[in-house]
Amino acid sequence: DKGNHRHFMQKEIYEQPVVVAQTLRSYLQRMEGHVTLPIPDNDLSDVRRVTIVACGTSFYAGMVARYWFEQFARVPVDLDVASEFRYREPVMEAGGLALFISQSGETADTLAALRHARREGQRIAVVCNVPTSSMAREADILLPTHAGPEIGVASTKAFTCQLAVLAALAANLARAKGKLSDAEERDIVRHLAEAPAAINGALAYDETIEAMAGSVAGARDVLYLGRGTDYPLALEGALKLKEISYIHAEGYAAGEMKHGPIALIDDQVPVIVIAPSGPLFEKTVSNMQEVRARGGRVILISDYDGIQAAGEGCEATITMPKVHPLIAPIVYAVPVQLLAYHVAVAKGTDVDQPRNLAKSVTVE
Ligand code: F6R
Repeated sequence: DKGNHRHFMQKEIYEQPVVVAQTLRSYLQRMEGHVTLPIPDNDLSDVRRVTIVACGTSFYAGMVARYWFEQFARVPVDLDVASEFRYREPVMEAGGLALFISQSGETADTLAALRHARREGQRIAVVCNVPTSSMAREADILLPTHAGPEIGVASTKAFTCQLAVLAALAANLARAKGKLSDAEERDIVRHLAEAPAAINGALAYDETIEAMAGSVAGARDVLYLGRGTDYPLALEGALKLKEISYIHAEGYAAGEMKHGPIALIDDQVPVIVIAPSGPLFEKTVSNMQEVRARGGRVILISDYDGIQAAGEGCEATITMPKVHPLIAPIVYAVPVQLLAYHVAVAKGTDVDQPRNLAKSVTVE
């Protein structure tokens, strides 16, 4: 049932404040200021390396998590798309945690990678939205997302719930490794708990985004740029746009532009820059200015401060609430989803059932 929404995707985008809150409830003890995992045997103190494997949007959630695991827990992280993981014959040592992220829990490549890691003696953690799925059943450590059924083929609410769980897991691992003080853990809990309201704040810009969709819908190519945890978001933005609007889109690390892709820029190419104000802002903005200098049409997604500082001369700006960098990827996922959604609606494509795609990919 789509309720009063036109598509499942739209409904699922709008469910995010509720389902992210629902997911966080089983990981955060807000009063005590603790992060806990909803499993009995949850001591992660002996984890020496984390190997993250997933496909598509779930892979991009894993890519964000890599920053968090390394930043908070100081544990080295390997990250692979599931379809490539086994072919590089990964070296997996004892004491490793292998982490699989999947909405469906049935993606064939991810499941095969899980079984490979099991044979290599890894502890298996699974972040999954379907508790009865194959991956959930084969996990040593099952970390559920509580997004509810996701019907739209393009993943939206599963992604933000995955990010919520992964942030909690990173904090838990950091705690187990003695890398997080009580005060730091309390801060993480407080910031994560602010995510649902901030997502609501982001949803308030739906009409602004809808109004600019027409200008993107006519483009042949679109680029997305981000730095740090906004780099995986740029990749996710491009994936969302191409899968439902069939417009060619690429995500790049902002600093990579000058190493090649800037040659694509002309006055026909919209460039979506994802840049919350913060320590990486200045550098991303200078990459954005390089694009502008070549006539690129920039759409800047930032907060009020960021747009005050760098919004002039952009074709359009989208103002997000000012949030802590930890939850920025969760909040900035929303405008990226809404832009893809409205562009697809403007083009008249089948938003919930895009051509050539299946919700659950059960072949390798
Ligand atoms: C993108 C999308 C796909 C899935 C991928 C993995 O919107 O839906 O890229 O993310 O097929 O699926 P799961 O998470 O079920 O393993």
